Amino acid sequence: MSIKSIRGFKDILPEETGWWQKVEATASRVARNFGFAEFRIPVLERTELFARSIGADTDIVEKEMFSFADRHDESMTMRPEATAGIVRALIEHNLAADGRPLKYFFIGPMFRYERPQKGRQRQFHQLDVEAFNVASPHMDAEIVTLLDHFLAELGLSDVTMNINSLGCRECRPGFKSRLQEFLRDQKEELCADCQRRLETNPLRVLDCKVPRCSELVQDAPSILDSLCGECRDHFGVVQDDLRRTGVNFIVNPKLVRGLDYYSRTTFEAQTGDLGAQNAVAGGGRYDELVRSLGGGDVPGIGFAVGLERLIMLLSAKFEAEPARPDLYVAALDDDSVTACFGLVQQLRRNGLWVEADYSSGSLKSRMRRADKLGAGATLIVGPDELARKQVVIRFMDKGEQAEVSFEKIDDLAASLAARLSEE
Ligand code: HAM
Repeated sequence: MSIKSIRGFKDILPEETGWWQKVEATASRVARNFGFAEFRIPVLERTELFARSIGADTDIVEKEMFSFADRHDESMTMRPEATAGIVRALIEHNLAADGRPLKYFFIGPMFRYERPQKGRQRQFHQLDVEAFNVASPHMDAEIVTLLDHFLAELGLSDVTMNINSLGCRECRPGFKSRLQEFLRDQKEELCADCQRRLETNPLRVLDCKVPRCSELVQDAPSILDSLCGECRDHFGVVQDDLRRTGVNFIVNPKLVRGLDYYSRTTFEAQTGDLGAQNAVAGGGRYDELVRSLGGGDVPGIGFAVGLERLIMLLSAKFEAEPARPDLYVAALDDDSVTACFGLVQQLRRNGLWVEADYSSGSLKSRMRRADKLGAGATLIVGPDELARKQVVIRFMDKGEQAEVSFEKIDDLAASLAARLSEE
């Protein structure tokens, strides 16, 4: 029997990689324009890192991590997200010590043992963006703007930005008790998970997807009414900034995130086009995280985009741009195939994308092939051309053609490259 891939781990086939390249190139360009440098972290970390950052009683840490004991019986985990690893590296390399703003981005695979379904895999990819050492609410707005800008560059301006504030260690405990009080009255009607969350992590009940739970929390107290003065002012500036830059957002006081490290601003880019998995990106501020992992008092904020979900949206909305070779080399007989080998490599050394299939055929069949590939031009070589030591170049769009001697191939490549870059 043949060996199959693992459930929730998907191949990305060549016909899909065009989208990935477009998304990754756009991410790098937008991140660079905002002054974010690329960071790269390892796939494996000590399990403790995630338990201490994401939170021991979150779904991710409780039931979704790919963890195993290594040969020395130490517990290792394949990263379920990037923030914890970047913070670990920041502390380890003492990057935040001088208090200067630090801005990073990272693209890579993450691993969560969830039940696979549309928009949910066990290996998935994130674009992760993080900023450190800036406590100002303008940075919150800048980070949300970066996400909005990135989505708009890709043509997705109809995604709704939900924003909320989760308060800080001063004001959140008060809200937590108020919410618990409210929920205890309805405890019997909550789902089994929420009955447990009610004691451990009551905020999570607010975004439970079970219909009865979301009905019950309709009248729950709003966290926004419990914010302390500083948190309220902070959130006010974020909203003013977002209005000023024209980011379309809604304030959603029920938005709580599945990771415990957040304080103050949290946000999610949501869309109805993804079915149950409606978040294409999410993030927020985490001013306590660096300290809780043994670093200094370093405020942080960031987000991650789920790239599979993003590409699902893009491919449903737009046609993929077909990749077209610059040149197809059509050999009409076996001697021409042999002669063309060197020619093809020479053209490629000149920077052109050249396709050759090392088989000969009639001019008609070769031109059909060139059309099918969508080549910009075709180089035709047959017995007559070989005898005269020249090739025929035919431009596919206008049907124009010209003869070029073997010695002038480099010149031809240069003028072709110039012509293609003008288009
Ligand atoms: P998260 O909300 O857990 O946040 O994940 C961010 C995004 O990753 C989600 O909105 C979703 O698009 C995608 N995603 C999550 N799980 C899956 C899955 N199983 N299959 C496919 N896509 C998935 C974080 O990971 C935080 N580290 C974000 C952050 C960065 N906060 C601050 N800095």
